[in-house]
Amino acid sequence: METQRDGFASSVGAFTATVASAVGLGNIWKFPYLAGVNGGAAFVLTYLLAVALVGLPILVAEHAIGRKMRQDAVASYARVVPKEGFWAVIGYAGIVAAFFIMAFYSDVAGWVFSYIPKSLIAAIRGTAPLESKAFISLSSGTWEPLLWQAGVVVFISIIVLAGVSKGIERATKLTMPILLGLLILCDIRALTLPGAFKGVQFLFEPDFSKLSGAVILSALGLAFFKLSLGMGTMTTYGSYMPHTVRLVPNASRVALADTLVSILAGLAIFPAVFAFGFEPASGPSLLFISIPAVFSKMPLGNYFTVLFFLLSALAATGAMISLIEVPVAWLSGKMNLKRPTAVLITATGILVLGLPATLSLGLWADVKLFNMGFFDLLDYIQQNLLLPLGGLAIALVAGWRLPKAEFLRELETAEPNKPWYIPVLYTFIKFIAPALIILVFLNGFGVFGK
Ligand code: PFF
Repeated sequence: METQRDGFASSVGAFTATVASAVGLGNIWKFPYLAGVNGGAAFVLTYLLAVALVGLPILVAEHAIGRKMRQDAVASYARVVPKEGFWAVIGYAGIVAAFFIMAFYSDVAGWVFSYIPKSLIAAIRGTAPLESKAFISLSSGTWEPLLWQAGVVVFISIIVLAGVSKGIERATKLTMPILLGLLILCDIRALTLPGAFKGVQFLFEPDFSKLSGAVILSALGLAFFKLSLGMGTMTTYGSYMPHTVRLVPNASRVALADTLVSILAGLAIFPAVFAFGFEPASGPSLLFISIPAVFSKMPLGNYFTVLFFLLSALAATGAMISLIEVPVAWLSGKMNLKRPTAVLITATGILVLGLPATLSLGLWADVKLFNMGFFDLLDYIQQNLLLPLGGLAIALVAGWRLPKAEFLRELETAEPNKPWYIPVLYTFIKFIAPALIILVFLNGFGVFGK
């Protein structure tokens, strides 16, 4: 049995750590590219609704269950309802999701890391900024993306092993505001480019004919991915939270900060996409093509590009630490392995899955499963199946299986008087979030007709 567990020392620490997990490639890479592929504002609006109506309630539910149980995710869900050990399946599905996500996330992180020296060389030599050609040859290559990916996985493993993860989280307290500042600078430059306004319209003027069941499901899945929900990560983080944290205000601030970073990234990218005549639906390459282009229109632009990718790499690192911790905590806790062994097994598993994911964008581009390459398939399964279903199960446990008084006690902890938002949030956890997940899910798979 555990005797002593590490925890976040303060409310501020709990907030920072949660933000460090939430803010990552999801904000600067995935959100813009999905918004682009799915037609812009209508998707963005659906995503915002998904964060507010489903994401926030589930984030609170995960933190509450975690803090109540004070164990890793598998153990928490195995024991949270007496005699209903089968809820542990949430934790197990979360471990699978963590591997699936890390397999493609580490590939994308590899691109981001490689852009640091690449743009630095361009800056020192004073050559033109990186163009789409550079990105395509990187992402569809063989050895180059694989080596960067392996490097990223080794880097994260070392951080987790050396026990300096907390240090990284603390560092994000400093780097996150700088990233925010840089994004704002980028926004100002992008928004003042000729023709930029089209990008703003694309992001904020909804054309609802672009919405379909599949698009709505992907917005919901993105909300889960963004807030690291539906797979036990935030349950584990809840288990580290001290009783001084007011769960609802804390989660609201996290959701708000995370959404803000996504919107700022969108505002840096889309005006530039339209100003430079790039294709908004170009997919995963969007970030890598548009950001160097925006900075190229600024003095010292290449240096700003270096800084941008450096800070993005740090943000991705925070998210990956929280991802890798899911299997590592389980292997070293429940399976009784030494931590280095647990990290080694996890890293190997990620690389084994990550190799075909990376190659599916190049060498193995013709290999399709269910009409998708392996990279897209892993992403599709975690985003459209594992995370929403995990979220549904969590809402059902919190809203229907746990005694209400017990659950509310966690939400009321540290609140001076019983605030109005607690019963509201409880209603969302119990009724609205699960109902919406079920509806969006069925609709996404065409149950109500196309
Ligand atoms: N929220 C992270 C991002 O948006 O980049 C991704 C992520 C991290 C998802 C941790 C899930 C997770 F457990």
